[in-house]
Amino acid sequence: MKKYYITTPIYYANAAPHIGHAYTTVAADVLARFKRGRGVPTFLLTGTDEHGQKIEEAAKAAGKHAIDFCDLTSGKFRELFKHLDVTNDDFIRTTEKRHEDRAQELFARLLKSGDIYKGRYEGLYDVVNEAYVKASDAVVAKDGKTLLSPDSGKPLQTLAEDTYFFKLSAYGPRLLKHYQDNPGFLAPPHRAQEILRFVEGGLEDISVSRAKVKWGVPVPGDADHTIYVWFDALINYWSAAAGRDDLWPADVHIVGKEIFRFHSVIWPAMLMAAGLPLPKKVFAHGWWTVDGRKMSKSLGNFVDPYEITHEFGVDAFRYFLLREMPFGNDGDFSKASLTKRYNAELANDLGNLVSRVTEMVDKFIVGKLPAKPALEGDFHTAVVAKRSAEIAEKMEALDFHGALDVIWEVIRGLNSRVNEKAPWKLAKTDMKACELVLFDLVWSLRIVSGWLEPFMPRKSAEMQMQLGVRRVPDALTAEDVLSGVSEHPGEIHKGPILFPRKIG
Ligand code: MSP
Repeated sequence: MKKYYITTPIYYANAAPHIGHAYTTVAADVLARFKRGRGVPTFLLTGTDEHGQKIEEAAKAAGKHAIDFCDLTSGKFRELFKHLDVTNDDFIRTTEKRHEDRAQELFARLLKSGDIYKGRYEGLYDVVNEAYVKASDAVVAKDGKTLLSPDSGKPLQTLAEDTYFFKLSAYGPRLLKHYQDNPGFLAPPHRAQEILRFVEGGLEDISVSRAKVKWGVPVPGDADHTIYVWFDALINYWSAAAGRDDLWPADVHIVGKEIFRFHSVIWPAMLMAAGLPLPKKVFAHGWWTVDGRKMSKSLGNFVDPYEITHEFGVDAFRYFLLREMPFGNDGDFSKASLTKRYNAELANDLGNLVSRVTEMVDKFIVGKLPAKPALEGDFHTAVVAKRSAEIAEKMEALDFHGALDVIWEVIRGLNSRVNEKAPWKLAKTDMKACELVLFDLVWSLRIVSGWLEPFMPRKSAEMQMQLGVRRVPDALTAEDVLSGVSEHPGEIHKGPILFPRKIG
């Protein structure tokens, strides 16, 4: 049976991971967890991009052999994702044989079909981005003569070399037709528009090999050239599917906006040329600035995910990443905004609610909680349960921010309900009514905990432990809760504070 196949980009193994890398992967993990929770067999792929000049030079600067250097840096990504509770099913490295074989196989196929041909490139080259640059795109430096890369801002080299070209120019019309016939293929729409305009403007053939880069996959049949790192890297998604018939095509490639073009133009054209099925969707998310500024080496303002998780916990970090800005938009990361959301939404709205409710159950309830929620009548749980479909719809559309909006609307509603119904007063006058209100709140919170699982897997499980549904580490989904699955029904106890307040 075909699995729902989600990918993240593969990360350059030339430096330590920062919040931007954590973002793409956590978002993909949220989607994967949501899908699995709905009973959809899911496969999440992440990994590292390890070839090319940039990596070669970084290894040299570190005084290491390229592969030793990559082992080390790739390991850092792997460790971070584990730390962030990312449930990837595979971790691919482009230096693995399984990938190199597939990269060569695809390259050879395109050579054979004539989609790749040998030619000569004479022009400007951006070493930082390992990309050819059109003379008309180059930026003239302040000295009036040095030409700078429009992307990296670094001086460009002039280069003359034999190279292999991919006939991208031939695929414009087919790509445009594909975009038109498959409206969900590129998302979000405003970024899809940019791609459309770009392709409509006409495509040029692109160089897909490098003569002077040694650290790469050799071009099949021509050991003087290696495959261009981007051409090599894109193939990873297909490499991971080698030898299995339940993965390809990918269901969604999640990528950052700056690499959307590679994934929505070049990659589909490569697949068309190879006669392979295209992914179902490519989704481009936005970028984080930090305290209003772009993260950069010169500013030294890369946010280390460990620093944040040590202070706020893994779940709060995951939550913030998906809460602060709509998926697809840009946003700003700052400790002040994290602290603010943490205190207001996690400590107050959610944590405090759970602790108030469990405390009252501890104190007032002698009877046993019913094994299944009543989903009719005056029982508020019924109203809460109805929001599941809306949340699921947003999650399916990768609108994580919108899903959290709905979840928090429900949480705030539950807080108001506690105040309105005042179970502590009822406890003095009408014990039966007090019990009913509390049961109702417990059931509603159990559902909320299920919705939160993809975002905050550990806190969701902790919540469920306190709410008497689960003792084991893995949290239940909202559907599980509603179906009445529970590990130790009825035992509700106020537990440790879920989100201790932070002093901002
Ligand atoms: N190796 C290529 C991808 C090849 S995929 C076939 C690459 N790697 S990367 O390490 O530079 O970055 C990968 C991802 O990190 C991208 O999705 C990118 O958007 C994300 N981010 C890097 N910095 C970011 C921010 N400041 N904000 C949000 N995401 C950012 O590109």
